[in-house]
Amino acid sequence: MARFYVTTPIYYVNDAPHIGHAYTTVTADALARWHRLIGDEVFFLTGTDEHGLKVQRAAEARGLTPREHADRTSQRYREVWASLDISNDDFIRTTEPRHYQATQELMQAAYDNGWIELRPYEGLYCVSCEAYYAEAELVDGKLCPIHRTPVELLKEENYFFKLSQFTDRLLDWYSSVPGAVTPESKRNEAVGLIRGGLRDISISRTSISWGVPVPWDPDHVFYVWYDALINYATAIGYGSDPARFEAWWPAVHHLIGKDILRFHCVYWPALLMAAGIDPPQRIAVHGYLLVGGEKMSKTALNQIAPADLLPTFGVDGYRYHFLRDQAFGPDGDFSYEAMVARYNADLANNLGNLLARVSTVVERKCDGIGPAPSASSKLADVAAAVWADAAAAWERMSPSEALEATWRLVRETNAALEVAEPWKAEPGDEVDAVLGDALEALRIVAVLASPALTRASQEIWRRIGLPGQVTDQPLAAAASWGGYPGGLAVERGAPLFPRINA
Ligand code: MSP
Repeated sequence: MARFYVTTPIYYVNDAPHIGHAYTTVTADALARWHRLIGDEVFFLTGTDEHGLKVQRAAEARGLTPREHADRTSQRYREVWASLDISNDDFIRTTEPRHYQATQELMQAAYDNGWIELRPYEGLYCVSCEAYYAEAELVDGKLCPIHRTPVELLKEENYFFKLSQFTDRLLDWYSSVPGAVTPESKRNEAVGLIRGGLRDISISRTSISWGVPVPWDPDHVFYVWYDALINYATAIGYGSDPARFEAWWPAVHHLIGKDILRFHCVYWPALLMAAGIDPPQRIAVHGYLLVGGEKMSKTALNQIAPADLLPTFGVDGYRYHFLRDQAFGPDGDFSYEAMVARYNADLANNLGNLLARVSTVVERKCDGIGPAPSASSKLADVAAAVWADAAAAWERMSPSEALEATWRLVRETNAALEVAEPWKAEPGDEVDAVLGDALEALRIVAVLASPALTRASQEIWRRIGLPGQVTDQPLAAAASWGGYPGGLAVERGAPLFPRINA
């Protein structure tokens, strides 16, 4: 059995969850669900990133301790993920004892291997990025290139990670595992950063206490990013359960936004190497979800929360839009109109209408008992091709293409019904064959769409009379034509996806 370990970035608790965070998490969830469906052993991790100056200041601004503030926001993330049917197997918080233990153990290994040392440091720091910048990188010599806010001069003695000495090993890794970072353009960006010259990086702070203490020098805490990255190791037992860690690492698939490429594609593999651990198997980088052409941010006041959309679209409509319309990779502009259009076209008109038609005609012409499909038909060929294309698309982490393929079967089935017009025909074998095929197509669509439509796929399954859970089917039967047995009571229910008037 293959193992599939998938992670989202852990989200900062200074900010409330918005549809940009949800975009990564819903994608990871759909991938996790797909891999469970094909029988892989899956571990799906998300969580919250709770240390650092940014969080400390956000807490102070609200008159809370960092811990109280982190408790609240972390809880909000959990609630929002539950409202989107996110099926994570674990939720990690970097303030948990297990994470302190793993971070300290991994860093101690890198220290013992000679890759970390103490040096004085003075630099220009952006608190929002939690990162130092070289003067040349600043806008007008004083503003953070991302936040356009003034950087601060910070002076301290820091522990440094000797990143510069990992240049060759990183380049070797990139050339020996060409698919490790996707898409290709992001891989090239990472290789460019490495070739451009790596400086040693400061990984500890004495100026703050809200962090994981450096085990060999407790006056220091690790700088937030270097404890955060280690969450991926903590959750599978690094530092506490070596056998479990061995089992899951490095079969990890990190999903990240392009803003955190440098940390994941350069620093993280090097840090792992320093501690004697293999780099991750796969880092999939995606673009921004933009609102009005801009990245969502508190300062731009353009944040949209999932709760703003859920009452209108429902969980399935929400998930479907982001998985189908926002290709995983490039930037994409969020548009409410496009979301309504997609919902009406694919869910209300195509899928919802197919189920309504089939169940209505089965009620009228077959006494409500679904007939079995024919042994072979044009739809059987379409279903086989769709299954293959959808599987390949999920495999290359392209939910939009997987769903596009799946909806081919929906459209072809509607088209076949329009040609045969069983609603006009006399009951009999011909009508039975047409409806049996349509029910079989619906069964297969329910399986293939289940990573996106967590609720409707089960509802379709139930209404066409099938027992159990759509997600629990043995793969071969679920995938191949002929699985619908016939002779089942079909229920004509309320519209699955009522149309939305924009
Ligand atoms: N805490 C760090 C990550 C540490 S991982 C070891 C962090 N957190 S974050 O909350 O600021 O952002 C995390 C991720 O949220 C981004 O990388 C990205 O995956 C996602 N997104 C945040 N805003 C987004 C958009 N507007 N669009 C798409 N994804 C966005 O960075």
